[in-house]
Amino acid sequence: MSNVVLIGFMGTGKSTIGRLVAEKLNRTFLDSDKMIEKETGTTINNIFSSYGESYFREIESKVIHRISQQDNCVIATGGGVVLSPDNMKHLRENGIIICLKAKPEIIYERTKNAGSRPLLNVENPASAIEKKLNERKDLYIGDLVLDTSCIDAGEAADRIVSFVCEGNN
Ligand code: S3P
Repeated sequence: MSNVVLIGFMGTGKSTIGRLVAEKLNRTFLDSDKMIEKETGTTINNIFSSYGESYFREIESKVIHRISQQDNCVIATGGGVVLSPDNMKHLRENGIIICLKAKPEIIYERTKNAGSRPLLNVENPASAIEKKLNERKDLYIGDLVLDTSCIDAGEAADRIVSFVCEGNN
């Protein structure tokens, strides 16, 4: 069976919801950012600060290419995965794409205390969110688009499971 791939901006709930979807569908859960950290032995923050964003994107693309060759997984991706058409081509070849969205102010609330996202570790994270969302607005598209601003992770996961099961019946 094809993969279920969660894309979307930071703070839209990809990892939390992805884990729930994987449990409900009894599939393996893969988180590309976690895999990058495991393979490099360091944090995403440290990769950005020591080697730069383009180096991070290179590793991210390698991990995405490899993950895409697996079957039957639920995959949570990093928010910038959509920046590479190649990443999306690989993910789409063997996956249903679920795009999570949320309002900028909700994203801000959900991400403000984490400190683990280099692109938001800036003087004005709220305006960085607006700017990046605007830059990427045409890239966040999927077979299902789900706004998580006003629903909890359990409900979001249920909706995704229904969509995936209906589509495969
Ligand atoms: C990024 C999102 C992050 C992580 C990295 C870059 C982005 O993942 O991959 O900090 O460019 O949007 P999350 O979306 O899981 O926070």
